[in-house]
Amino acid sequence: MTAPLADLRPLPPGWIVEPLDYARDLDGVLAVDAASFANHWTREMFEWEARHSDVARLSVLRAPDGHVAGYCAAWVIFDEVHINNMAVLPAHRRQGLGAALLARVLDAAAHEGADRATLEVRASNEAARRLYEGFGFQPAGVRPRYYTNPIEDAIVMWRVPDGRAAPRPVLLETP
Ligand SMILES: CC(C)(COP(=O)(O)OP(=O)(O)OC[C@H]1O[C@@H](n2cnc3c(N)ncnc32)[C@H](O)[C@@H]1OP(=O)(O)O)[C@@H](O)C(=O)NCCC(=O)NCCS
Repeated sequence: MTAPLADLRPLPPGWIVEPLDYARDLDGVLAVDAASFANHWTREMFEWEARHSDVARLSVLRAPDGHVAGYCAAWVIFDEVHINNMAVLPAHRRQGLGAALLARVLDAAAHEGADRATLEVRASNEAARRLYEGFGFQPAGVRPRYYTNPIEDAIVMWRVPDGRAAPRPVLLETP
């Protein structure tokens, strides 16, 4: 029996989280990415994830008028879900939508058997770190100079079921 990883947060009326429809959503996802990251993913990277990866789970946050307001790219690998990227369009931030998106991604992964979750986040990304901490993710290590443009450490975070220790990869430094 797998315990759910996250309580589902309410979405406003008309908003939904659903699997990416490659033909319909790719341009919207690229726009969210471009508005959110200095090093954004290319069309080819999303295409590979969407079409060729068995483990990739791409989810979109869709506004009532149908536009893509956010997305989350995750991998589900056996009992682990890796949150590889997520973003919400700037105009839609601070309205609980990112939390609602993440909750649904974690819940779907839990239903596939992934009862622990991990991700990397820029050390200076206060908004994302707080979002993840709100879901019980805790710092488990640092990957020095992991990011470029600008160069910055990544904080590795894990969320594990109660009573279990987070894996601690040997090459990491403890923050
Ligand atoms: C991180 C991100 C996805 C959050 O999305 P969002 O829809 O604004 O998040 P929510 O409104 O659901 O906020 C949930 C919680 O996250 C934290 N949070 C979100 N934005 C924050 C900010 N600017 N400052 C501090 N805390 C913030 C808060 O704890 C918030 O809970 P609260 O509103 O009750 O205080 C969004 O800021 C974003 O797209 N950032 C750019 C891309 C990015 O950095 N992605 C993460 C890569 S690891």
